[in-house]
Amino acid sequence: MLFRILLSALLTCVYVQFSYADHREINLKTWEFSRDNVHWYTVKIPHDWAIRGPFDKKWDLQNVAITQNGETEKTEKSGRSGALPWIGEGIYRYHLRQTDLKSRHATLCFDGAMSEPTVYVNGQKAGYWAYGYNAFRLNITPFLHEGDNLIEVHLKNIEESSRWYPGGGLYRPVTLVITDKARIDTWGTYIRTVSADSLKAVVSIDMKALEFLQGSRFVVDITNKYGYHVQKSCPVDLKGEGRIIFHVARPKLWSPETPYLYKVRVKLVADKEGKPNVVYDEQLLNYGVRIIDITKEHGFRLNGVSRKIKGVCLHHDLGPLGAAVNKAALIRQIRILKDMGCDAIRTAHNMPSSLQMEICDSMGMMVIAESFDMWVYPKCKNGYARFFKEWSDRDIMNLILNHRNHPCIIMWSIGNEIPEQWSKEGVDISKHLQDLCHSLDPSRMVTQGMDRPDEALASGFAQIMDVPGFNYRVHKYDDNIRKLPQGFLLGTETASTVSSRNVYKFPVKVTDNAVYSDGQCSSYDTEYCSWSNLPDDDFSMQDHPWIIGQFVWTGFDYLGEPTPYDEYWPSRSSYFGICDLAGIPKDRYYLYRSVWNTNSHTIHLLPHWTWTDRIGKITPVFCYTDYPTAELFVNGKSQGRISKSRDGRLTKYRLCWNNVVYEPGELKVVVYDIHSNKAGEKRIYTAGIPHALKIDVDRDVIQADGNDLAFITVSMIDKSGNEVPTSQDELNVKVSGQGSFKCICNGDATNLQSFVEPKMKLFNGKLVIAVQSSMKKGKIKVNITDAVNKKITKSVSIKTE
Ligand code: GAL
Repeated sequence: MLFRILLSALLTCVYVQFSYADHREINLKTWEFSRDNVHWYTVKIPHDWAIRGPFDKKWDLQNVAITQNGETEKTEKSGRSGALPWIGEGIYRYHLRQTDLKSRHATLCFDGAMSEPTVYVNGQKAGYWAYGYNAFRLNITPFLHEGDNLIEVHLKNIEESSRWYPGGGLYRPVTLVITDKARIDTWGTYIRTVSADSLKAVVSIDMKALEFLQGSRFVVDITNKYGYHVQKSCPVDLKGEGRIIFHVARPKLWSPETPYLYKVRVKLVADKEGKPNVVYDEQLLNYGVRIIDITKEHGFRLNGVSRKIKGVCLHHDLGPLGAAVNKAALIRQIRILKDMGCDAIRTAHNMPSSLQMEICDSMGMMVIAESFDMWVYPKCKNGYARFFKEWSDRDIMNLILNHRNHPCIIMWSIGNEIPEQWSKEGVDISKHLQDLCHSLDPSRMVTQGMDRPDEALASGFAQIMDVPGFNYRVHKYDDNIRKLPQGFLLGTETASTVSSRNVYKFPVKVTDNAVYSDGQCSSYDTEYCSWSNLPDDDFSMQDHPWIIGQFVWTGFDYLGEPTPYDEYWPSRSSYFGICDLAGIPKDRYYLYRSVWNTNSHTIHLLPHWTWTDRIGKITPVFCYTDYPTAELFVNGKSQGRISKSRDGRLTKYRLCWNNVVYEPGELKVVVYDIHSNKAGEKRIYTAGIPHALKIDVDRDVIQADGNDLAFITVSMIDKSGNEVPTSQDELNVKVSGQGSFKCICNGDATNLQSFVEPKMKLFNGKLVIAVQSSMKKGKIKVNITDAVNKKITKSVSIKTE
């Protein structure tokens, strides 16, 4: 023991000089692409071949009954997977010039490829992966030769294989890693926090080496930007493995509020031909020291502090950018969510991108990383059920090995609304997958989203999960918890309230499955689906100590699944989002914000106050605020001072004046705190005719890296600067200088205009444009002109550096 302590002290203190072997990571960016093997184009990846459109219902027309929505008869469904041309084949080619391959090892790393990628190197098959959402690695060393090499990736998307828009192509990065043959198995590195409090943390690091030399050792440095630096080493054992335990004094603990990261540098070191301390391979990781537990007594705890998870579910697409992963777009999503007070994302219903996980680590967003939307029984004809038996273990393995070092991930999910919930087979599969997760990562609990609580509780399916997750059916929570030995449950999916930004339907009704002739849903936030409910219902349940949190369906609208308009053309994207497809907050955003964001106040009024056809008509007014009391005025006339009440479905979290008679002019709300002191006010006005464009750019300076994006939100305003919520004018966009037009989106689920043409109609007064930097530093100039009234024009300049 003494010897071990001395040895460990010695290893901790000795800092040695290393000489470096060559380790190269090449991001394979520019590829040739073809859909027919005849016409070839140069594309940059991440690339989604379908997002250019055009939208057409013929691409994914289906005659099906959506059984999970309770349908029993088949009907024609259009736009179910986005009405974009993602089905079919695509080929990508990369020309790789490679020299000095002797004693080198080459790994090709895919972060996901949509879908069923078959990879050829110099005409020889190097590998295949079935699931389009998973990361996989291929050893291509045997297929490479000195000089010119050709990498080809063949992809195939078949019809009725998805319940939403999956995209098509190399939509996540592809990296070639060239190392010495003696190398670190990057997925063999497993860092976990064994214990942590403000005084001390114990962090364990497991490592694995491949084709290593005798006498090799791992040398690990942990540093942070506040000057912390500890180095330790251990020998590589006969199996190529090693473990080092670090005792970190006064650790900077990771949380959504304090996303502190340490850098962990792992080196594989040996002596080479008499030369000491040669680094054969090296791996650099960001790691957040943090500890999680979930118990009946304390609920969900992060670093020993109980908290309710305030989460949203997100599909992988980035609206008008499609499935192609993009750093700036992901960062923008998280910024918007964090300001709402959201602290977690569930990656519905598949493996997330590595980029998204890195961003969640660094910005502070907890994550449930999910895997499957189906197991053996298909939810759509050609879905993942085709692969489950053969591939599920490998898929879980890659999910966990690829992502387990991300502090943001708090749980794994093995499935969503799996039809096998009622059966013994389902229980067995759950157990098997959950055990597999534990064996690869004993530090995290496992969940899945169940939509049939009665059956799942009768079969024992729910009871065997670490974390029983329920989708909707909040009215059953009370009953569920009595049957759950775990003593807690999670709302893996909640709300599914539907709305279209700035659309209000009268009379205001709390209703499920309402449909209208314009294909829109009401933003009074009173409409939901037959299986779902209102945000208010979930908020009230969250008071129970045994609920550990919720994940709202969904944070942003996504392409496909246009419920309740699955049969209505031209609906082609969802209505569930708290924000629309362009990322613009809908009214509901402020309802969540008023409850979730405890750092800053919310005062939001709805509906807009610009109506030509409502004069003298009842037009209810809602205020979403964290304050308990408010008084509403229409042109100075009080509509009454009201407070939130303990009962009532709409009155616990909202302030509603249901009998306001519309008259144009000023709508004002004055809010009061619990001591009845005036705390703030908000006014909105009836807008005049369109006069000018108002522009909000999310970042004034972006990187000149050929990839970064600035998002420009454009709003029509009148002469006095009031937003004109009724304007549907078309805008033309011109981009010049050091950047280019990337995409445009107005958030209208029924709009068939292309995302990639520089023109679009405003949807109820707003749209969003994204522009992309070039590789040169300078300025991007964006000019926006109203096609109806050309005098309405606005320019903006964005710096790139
Ligand atoms: C759930 C399902 C989600 C989505 C949602 C819409 O049942 O898990 O993927 O379809 O319904 O409400």
